[in-house]
Amino acid sequence: MKNLILFNYFILYLNKKVMNDRRNFLKTACKPFVLAAFGIPLIEACATEEEQPEVDSNSTVNNPANEGNTAKKLEINLDDNRFSDLQEIGGWVNFKDENILLVRISEDEIRVFDNACPHQGARDFWSFDGNNFTCSNHGNSYGANCNGSLTCYEASLEGNILTINF
Ligand code: FES
Repeated sequence: MKNLILFNYFILYLNKKVMNDRRNFLKTACKPFVLAAFGIPLIEACATEEEQPEVDSNSTVNNPANEGNTAKKLEINLDDNRFSDLQEIGGWVNFKDENILLVRISEDEIRVFDNACPHQGARDFWSFDGNNFTCSNHGNSYGANCNGSLTCYEASLEGNILTINF
């Protein structure tokens, strides 16, 4: 009789241990793996880390790291051929890689705007007449000043390096 009682306690102990192991497995196993084990397919990676953003490796346009800071800083070397139109006052560039419009206002000032049209967000239809940008998508014009409808970014020019703070 005593052996039977001991045997029952042993069986209870084993049942409890197996249940704990199942719970631990379900807690720690990758969710898609567990769902797949129950016949529920899911296409998802088991990785827990966030995807890393791509880094712009362009040598003439630098994005200095601002980790932990939501502000973005961009440096442009105006010697780059893509910005040759900015050598002349009144020259302008729609730099689509960074979604910005740049215009040379004076010897020491280049203004920078978001290239999204305030009307419906088109980015590819710009022209400049020396004072206003016109979006030919629907024909609206916007002054090249920081008090108008175009989103203006802080920009400073030192030599041939233009630094933009977004
Ligand atoms: S999207 Fe530019 S004028 Fe309409």
